[in-house]
Amino acid sequence: MSRLIINSSKPIDGEVSVSGSKNSALPILSACLLTEGNVILSNIPDLSDIDVMIQILSNLGCKITFENSTLTANAKNITNICLPYDLTGRIRASFLVVGPLLARFGHASVSLPGGCTIGTRPVDLHLKGFKSLGAKYTISDGKIDIECKSLKGARIYLDFPSVGATQNIMMAASLAEGETIIENCASEPEISDLADFINKCGGRITGAGSDKIIINGVKSLGGCSHTVIPDRIEAGTFMIAAVASGGKIRVKNINPSHLTSVSSKLTEIGAQITEFGDELSIFSPKIKKSTDIKTMPYPGFPTDMQSQFASLLCLVGGTSVITETIFENRFMYVPELVRMNAKIKVDGRCAVIDGSGELVGAEVNATDLRSAAALAIAGICAKGKTVINNSEFLNRGYSDFCKKMSMLGVDIYQE
Ligand code: UD1
Repeated sequence: MSRLIINSSKPIDGEVSVSGSKNSALPILSACLLTEGNVILSNIPDLSDIDVMIQILSNLGCKITFENSTLTANAKNITNICLPYDLTGRIRASFLVVGPLLARFGHASVSLPGGCTIGTRPVDLHLKGFKSLGAKYTISDGKIDIECKSLKGARIYLDFPSVGATQNIMMAASLAEGETIIENCASEPEISDLADFINKCGGRITGAGSDKIIINGVKSLGGCSHTVIPDRIEAGTFMIAAVASGGKIRVKNINPSHLTSVSSKLTEIGAQITEFGDELSIFSPKIKKSTDIKTMPYPGFPTDMQSQFASLLCLVGGTSVITETIFENRFMYVPELVRMNAKIKVDGRCAVIDGSGELVGAEVNATDLRSAAALAIAGICAKGKTVINNSEFLNRGYSDFCKKMSMLGVDIYQE
């Protein structure tokens, strides 16, 4: 177990450069399994989740190098289509290899995924899509065996715009015969980035970024060079830290249009945000206002920013309400924030936050990636010393978190 120690309660100040998107890099790495040429990916973040995905692809026979944010992959000679639980149990995104393996080799045998414990996280929508494309599967002993001689395009309606199901089906359909239409699909920027990557490899996908994606299958996909989009969740986390601590920062290497919901909510609180090109500056107001948050599929407010926003709402005065609609178990950080003097009451999917108090340092436990970020923001704003146990969760999704926060003036280290 690693621990994060923060001794700081002063405004953050300076500039920070955001890394490539974890949630874009993971599916794109998986999509390499669809391809038979050399792939060069830039802006890949240095994260433990990326290391696990590299291990997964290597285990399947993909040749990979990764240095200085650039990853090369060649999946021409895949030697294995079976993944054991010691690999899939570590990241939820491991299940994204099923679509590519099924499409390219007609078979996959993969243990059901693990990942952050933020909800039950079923894969029924992924399976519904594969079934519509003609696949047959069995599930036993926590493992799915799925096969199909050749996938055929189909019209697929998703009951919920699941990010992972949209990606998995889109990848499978890229090598299916004929046209696939996914309706009520997810429209996150990470979906568009995956479609851009597949299209650069020779795929024929249109509509990504809307609620209807059309995929015309091709016989094979080659290599390409692609730069992964900036991590909007990392960017938003720094923006929230700036406002919570009363600071002012410049956030570089971002796409501001991916941050609209977060920027809007921070503006409601009183922050001043100026966007220019691939950067923005954010100033915290002296007097902040409370606001309500409801997590929604993109372009709604992201569930991955909910816990970090809660730390901020503890400090804005007044009462705020957070409603979590995506994952049923995403308030696990609340008892830990309460240990830091936060005044939060949870009732089902809602958290009511009294923002009139101040946060005080304490020893707390991170329960998942984003809760670790929320506790770090609270620690940056709290009086006294904060110790965050299980801080290795942060390394799953934030590249050089301590280094970047130190450069913004935070007294922070991991041990
Ligand atoms: C992705 C992100 C995660 C983010 C989430 C929602 C990655 C690697 N992870 O996760 O950080 O929090 O999107 O923005 O990109 N669901 C089903 N059946 C399914 C699939 C999903 O019921 O087959 C439900 C889930 O339980 C959840 C909701 O749909 O309640 C959203 O899940 P989904 O959009 O699939 O999230 P992930 O792709 O797992």
